[in-house]
Amino acid sequence: MPGMSILSLLSLALLAGRSVAVGVSGTPEGFAASTTGGGSATPQYPADIAELKTWLTDSTARVIVLNKEYNFIGSEGSVTETGCRPASNKCPGDGGQDAINHADWCTNGNAGTGATSISVTYDKAGVSSIDVGSNKSIIGIGSSGVIRGKGLRIANGAKNVIIQNIHITELNPQYIWGGDAITIAGADLVWIDHVKISLIGRQFVVLGTTASNRVSITNNEFDGSTSWSATCDNHHYWALYFTGSNDLVTLKGNYIHHTSGRSPKVGGNSVIHAVNNYWYANSGHAFDVASGGYVVAEGNVFQNVVSPLLSGSAGSVFSSPDTTTNKACSTYLGHVCQLNAFGSSGTLTGSVTSFFSDFSGKTVATAAANTGVASSVKGNAGVGKV
Ligand SMILES: *[C@@H]1O[C@H](CO)[C@@H](O)[C@H](O)[C@H]1NC(C)=O
Repeated sequence: MPGMSILSLLSLALLAGRSVAVGVSGTPEGFAASTTGGGSATPQYPADIAELKTWLTDSTARVIVLNKEYNFIGSEGSVTETGCRPASNKCPGDGGQDAINHADWCTNGNAGTGATSISVTYDKAGVSSIDVGSNKSIIGIGSSGVIRGKGLRIANGAKNVIIQNIHITELNPQYIWGGDAITIAGADLVWIDHVKISLIGRQFVVLGTTASNRVSITNNEFDGSTSWSATCDNHHYWALYFTGSNDLVTLKGNYIHHTSGRSPKVGGNSVIHAVNNYWYANSGHAFDVASGGYVVAEGNVFQNVVSPLLSGSAGSVFSSPDTTTNKACSTYLGHVCQLNAFGSSGTLTGSVTSFFSDFSGKTVATAAANTGVASSVKGNAGVGKV
C-alpha cells in the first residue's frame, strides 16, 4: 500500500485490533451451544438508556456493546403504595425484606399469617424488564458495562440471545418483587455468560412458566450479599428459579454466593445439568427440586452451604454419589459423572437415572474433577474476566 500514510496504516491497525477485541468471547457450552446472538453484526455502542432500549427490543440482529453504566433508576418515576411486611420478616430494627403487593402476594396468603400492611416506595423501572428481541448479543467491555435498576427479559418467542460480561444491579433490593435481573419465558437458545448480578429484589435468573427450551448459564457471579435479607442474615433468598415447561438448562462454572435459599429452585418440567459450580456461604438451601425438576449435579463444590438440597424435595436428583454409580452417566451424557465436594456443608443425595435419556442427542457440557473448582470459579466467574 505505497499510497498510504503511516498514520492511516496505524489507524487501520488500531481498527483491526478493535474489531478483534470487541465481540462475544468464546462459544457457548452445553444445551445452548448453537446460540449465535447478533452474530457478525457491527458492534454498536448505545448513547443512552433510550438507545439501549431501542436496540434491545427491535427486530434487527445486533451486537450491542456497553462500555459504561446505563442507569434506569428514576427514569420511569417511583411508586408509593400499600405493600406488606411478611410474617417471616422478624428482622430487628425494621431490617429484612418487605414486599410489594405484586399479583396480590401480600393479600392472598403468601405473605403468611400475621403479615402487616405497610407503605412501600419503589423505583418503577426495576419492576418491569426490557423485552429483548431475537438475534442479539449484549456484551460489556472490561468491567465497565453496567445496567443499573432494570432487568432483561427474553420471552414470547424471542430466540438466540447472548448476554456476556455485564453487571446487572440495584433492582429495588429492599423489596420482594422489586425486580428480576434476567427473565426467560417462551424462548430458545439463550446464553448467559460472565455476567454479574447483585442487589435484586427477586430473582437473579427466572425461567418459566412457559418453555425456555435450551439455555446455558455459564461462568456467572450471583452475589446474594444484601442489607435487606428475607432471612435476616445479609443473604438473598430468592436467587434462581427454573420452572419452565420444557427446559434444558446447563449451569456450569458459576459462583453462587451469600444466598439463603432457592439457589436454584427447580420445577415445571426442567432438566438442569449443574456442573463445576462453586456454591459458597449459603445459610439455607441450594437446590429445592420440586416434582417435575430433574437435576444432574456433578463436579460442583459446596463450601459453607447449610443444605445443598432442601430436605423433602420431591423431584428427581442424580447427585453423582460414587465412582461406580457415576458410570451410569456415560451412555447419555458422554462421560462418567464427577463427584461433588462438600466443605462444612450438608449433603446432596439422589441416584435417579431414569431421566438421563433427556440428554440424548443434546450438546452436553463436559465435566472436570471438583479439585481446583473453587479457585478456578472464583478467579474466572463474573464480569471483567473474559
Ligand atoms: C433471527 O435470525 C434468523 C437466522 O438468520 C432468522 O431466520 C430470523 O428471522 C431472525 N429473527 C428475527 C426476529 O429477526
